[in-house]
Amino acid sequence: MEPISHLVKVSLPNYLAGLPIPDSIGGWFKLGVRDWISLIPPTAMVAGIGYMAYQTWCPQAKATMAIRAKVNHKIKKDVAKVVDMVDVEDITEKTVFCRCWRSENWPYCDGAHGRHNEASCDNVGPLVVTKKK
Ligand code: FES
Repeated sequence: MEPISHLVKVSLPNYLAGLPIPDSIGGWFKLGVRDWISLIPPTAMVAGIGYMAYQTWCPQAKATMAIRAKVNHKIKKDVAKVVDMVDVEDITEKTVFCRCWRSENWPYCDGAHGRHNEASCDNVGPLVVTKKK
């Protein structure tokens, strides 16, 4: 326990006391390059701990992450895997298939990718299959 005790009671306070943290807001503008560089490791550590805590304890962040990880939000959610078959004979001169998983007319594109792209800054679009003439 002595190494941990020394770290918490002596090393860490000495390290923090040695950081060039100014006493006023104006002091931040007077810091030199070396001062800023010396502040990078503790800042990164605090940011990392904060981010991990946010990810761990914030239920909204967990839900948001889960939603972002999913591609399919609504199509055939009652099956384990969405598989669609289209007979090549059924393809007309031009058939447009959805690739954004937002279409109300799955597996065909209904233009919903436009709203999705606008809302998410994404760039997905349909697969257009044409028949040779
Ligand atoms: S609606 Fe999904 S790609 Fe057009």
